[in-house]
Amino acid sequence: PIVAPPRPTDTGSIPIPDPAHPFLAPGPYDLRGPCPGLNTLANHGYLPRNGVATFEEIVIATTHVYNMDYDLASALTAFGMLARGNAYIDKLSIGLESSLVPPLPGQIDGPVARGLAAHGRFEGDVSMTRQDAAIGDNRNFQADLYNQLLSLVDQFGDNSTVTGPRSIVNLRVMQEFKFKRFTDSQMVDKQLEYHVGRLLLSYGEAAFTLNFFANGTDGILTVPTMTSFFRDQKFPANWRRRPSAGTLDIIGNDAINIFLAHPVLPGANDANGTYVPDNTPIDACALYNNLAADNVPAVFLNTTGLLRQNVDFLLNAIHNSFSSCPAAVPHGAA
Ligand code: HEM
Ligand code: MG
Repeated sequence: PIVAPPRPTDTGSIPIPDPAHPFLAPGPYDLRGPCPGLNTLANHGYLPRNGVATFEEIVIATTHVYNMDYDLASALTAFGMLARGNAYIDKLSIGLESSLVPPLPGQIDGPVARGLAAHGRFEGDVSMTRQDAAIGDNRNFQADLYNQLLSLVDQFGDNSTVTGPRSIVNLRVMQEFKFKRFTDSQMVDKQLEYHVGRLLLSYGEAAFTLNFFANGTDGILTVPTMTSFFRDQKFPANWRRRPSAGTLDIIGNDAINIFLAHPVLPGANDANGTYVPDNTPIDACALYNNLAADNVPAVFLNTTGLLRQNVDFLLNAIHNSFSSCPAAVPHGAA
């Protein structure tokens, strides 16, 4: 069964990568996907270089390397495993489908276990450096989108004596970029889906960028550092992890501050490309319900034995981060 790895005892800053984890570009059969954080871990062998990992491996790697808080890492990884992995054999592809991740017993979640790069459940619209699935490449780094981010750093970034004027990424840059990404998707993606879970996760990903990619030596995210993670999926030289664990509270606060500059309502485009808000309240329990109920197949609850044991473990790992919300019951489509 899936077993919770031990909680890290040391959450101070350390240099990353260590000598045992050099960068190696992925080979033709190594899977990579929409998450620059996980891709970078795999490119340095902190996750298996083939891009297929267990719950335990992902929690250990994200907590150790980025100093992501243990409960936050557990909740995200649990959601990924339930949504797009094989919770029976405890394997998740960080890219598209893999022969190493067979379908679940009885093919209860379809004929393939699809991986984090599959559109829906976890991967969704209004990403920063990946295009919406209906209009482009939702898996690989897109230089044109990244250049839009860089031009906002030119306009709104802070100055650095080392990397130059307007070369530091700040909250304001993310506020403007997230809003631009939304308005662009709203205009061009007739199939835009921006329900509350995806909306809040997407602001969380902007907050991840500021909080986990910044260099732990000074807490500053410069353009060269950000480029190293997003474009090269490689740790920058002289990089250290942040000096304290990055918790859901810290990330959530930044995500809300990014959101509040230009609030948008959860919703979806209709066939005419008109954005139709869905009137869901925007709060932590709505996010939790989306993760643990809407996006987890209901059929999991019909299972017994090891699969059900692992599913319950993973649902509990999500609930731990949202303990004030009533426990959700999966009701997603298969
Ligand atoms: C995006 C999964 C940890 C940074 C994503 C996406 C997935 C994902 C599926 C794509 C969502 C989308 O944009 O459509 C996970 C899982 C994690 C994890 C299962 C397990 C703990 C991390 C960590 C970092 C990170 C530790 C930072 C160090 C990001 C960023 C994006 C992203 C910045 C947005 C990329 C973009 O919009 O261009 N993640 N992630 N993630 N993730 Fe992760
Ligand atoms: Mg996406």
